[in-house]
Order: sequence, then C-alpha cells, then structure tokens
Amino acid sequence: MNRHLSVMPEKAIDLLDIKEDGIYIDGTLGRGGHSRLILERLTTGKLYCFDLDEEAIKESKENLKDFPNVEFIHDNYKNMFQYVEHADGILLDLGVSSPQFDDAERGFSYRYDGPLDMRMDQGDSLSAYDVVNGYSKEKLEKVLWEYGEERFSRRIAEKILENRPIETTMQLVEVIKSALPAKVLRSKGHPAKQTFQAIRIEVNHELDSLKEFLEGFDSILNEDGTVVIISFHSLEDRMVKQCFRRLSTVEDDKRIALRPEQVKKANYCLLNRGEKADEAEIEINHRAKSAIIRGVRKTNGKDRYEKKKKIEL
Ligand SMILES: C[S@@+](CC[C@H](N)C(=O)[O-])C[C@H]1O[C@@H](n2cnc3c(N)ncnc32)[C@H](O)[C@@H]1O
Repeated sequence: MNRHLSVMPEKAIDLLDIKEDGIYIDGTLGRGGHSRLILERLTTGKLYCFDLDEEAIKESKENLKDFPNVEFIHDNYKNMFQYVEHADGILLDLGVSSPQFDDAERGFSYRYDGPLDMRMDQGDSLSAYDVVNGYSKEKLEKVLWEYGEERFSRRIAEKILENRPIETTMQLVEVIKSALPAKVLRSKGHPAKQTFQAIRIEVNHELDSLKEFLEGFDSILNEDGTVVIISFHSLEDRMVKQCFRRLSTVEDDKRIALRPEQVKKANYCLLNRGEKADEAEIEINHRAKSAIIRGVRKTNGKDRYEKKKKIEL
C-alpha cells in the first residue's frame, strides 16, 4: 500500500512553534507523518492524535510505537474538546490520506473499481451508495454544485437518477462521463474528480466537522497556543480564513480618538496569510498542489506575541 507523504511538514511544524513540554493535538492523524515531527520535538510534553479511520489509528500506533508520550483516539476531531482540556497547539491536515485513496475497497477513488463507500469511519451509517442511490435529484445536484463546484451538476444528477442502482465507483465514473459534453471530457483533469470529491464531503460531513472545530477550539487553546490548518478545498479554506480573520480583528470605532493604551487588541494574531506548497514539493507530492496552510496564535490581546512572529501584511 502507498505511503502517505505529509504536506508542507516543515511549514506546519514551524507555525506550530512547538514547546518541548507543551500539549499538542493532531486532529487528523493519518499515517502519523506530522505527528512524528511533533513528537520528535517534545520531551515532557504530550500529543493527542485523532482519526475517524480505525486503520489509520492501527498503523500509526505501530509507526509511532517508540514514543511514550502519545495517545490515540478513534473519534472525530470535532469532539476533541471532550478529551483534552488545554492545548498549546492544534494541527488539522484535512481530507483523505493516500492509503485511503489507494485502497479500492474504500471506494474513494475514481481510478480503481470498488464499492461506493467513501466512509472515513467504517462504523458510520451513511455511505456513498446511499447518497448516489438514495438522494433526490435536487439534493444530489446541490451536493455536486456546492461541494464539488461542478458546473454540470444538474446533468450529472439527472444521469445518476436514470441509471440507478449504481453499485461501483467505475459505474459511477461512466455515468458521470455520459453526462458531460465531449469538450469537457477532452479537457485536463479527471471528469469524475469534482463529483467524487462532493460525495465524499457529504458522506463524511466534512464541512460540519470543520465548522464545529472552528467554533470550539478557543475553549481549550492556552495563551500563546497556535492552531494550524492545511486545507485542500476552497470552501474549507474560506471557512478557516474567515474564522482566523474574525479572531484577529477588533472592530474599533474610528471616529473616536483613543490613547494607545485604550486601543483594544484582538485575542489572536495571524501567523500568515495563507501559504501554498512550493514547486519542489508539488513535484514529488501532487496532493500538495491544492493545499493552503494557515495559522493563528492566541495572544489574549498582548503585544509581545505579535512581535514574536511578525508577518508581512
Ligand atoms: C490528509 S490525512 C492526514 C495525514 C497526516 N497529517 C500525515 O502526515 O500522515 C487526513 C486524515 O484525517 C482523517 N480525518 C478526516 N476528517 C476527520 C475528522 N473529522 N476527524 C478525525 N479524523 C479525520 C482521515 O481519516 C485521514 O486519515
């Protein structure tokens, strides 16, 4: 099975700014690539790792068996607040890992034939089969349009309904192709990519998990703590960007002249403005192509932290 190459590993670790005695959370463990880099920097600190996928937990336990200060939790990262009271840094590297994608039986890939599954947590009840064969035309069209930004969502939804039941990933690929104009089929990129992505996001409620996390992380993040998120989809990145912007901005009434000590400071500062992987990384890891990494630090309104990591605005 294919190894998972972690995306922007050095950048993620740099933004997390790890303290050797700190408490860290990797919300999307995968095969433990980022986790290992965090653990290598800890002495008395501790790392909590979450993943929905039992296989990911099992393999990472083996991969990281030399580190005593790590705890593995098979749950959604949106529930981390139930397990951890305080954290100095939280990392999310969203989406699917290469081993999940490359295992035909998991049904994530439009390149291999397999069952219509796509569940990250195999204990979940909703699968891609249910979405493809059970959703109304309108609901299916909405999923493809919103989560896949698929221009031909209506035509694809119509074709799916005409061809039900659809049992396998390759049958779905053929149905999608039959809905698309020849010009689109000739263009670059796989014609089923956006539809598969949309169905996967729906099956795993990916945006709901991210929303809950963004609304909740402040309750466990210590002062000077950081949150770093790598996203692969414009909708996810927009949610992260808007949340980080809101946290790092204070609405001042510009009409009133304030003395410097009266100026309110935001409780967070941005660590960057969204960075992409460089060409060299994209060359060896195609998953890095659509990745954007963002970070914030909790300052509780104190200047000293803003000076610590000054960014070009
Ligand atoms: C891109 S991979 C992470 C790779 C990892 N950073 C590494 O370096 O090996 C994403 C992982 O997050 C898991 N995942 C996705 N959404 C999740 C969620 N809401 N809660 C917990 N795990 C999730 C997936 O099962 C997958 O294993």
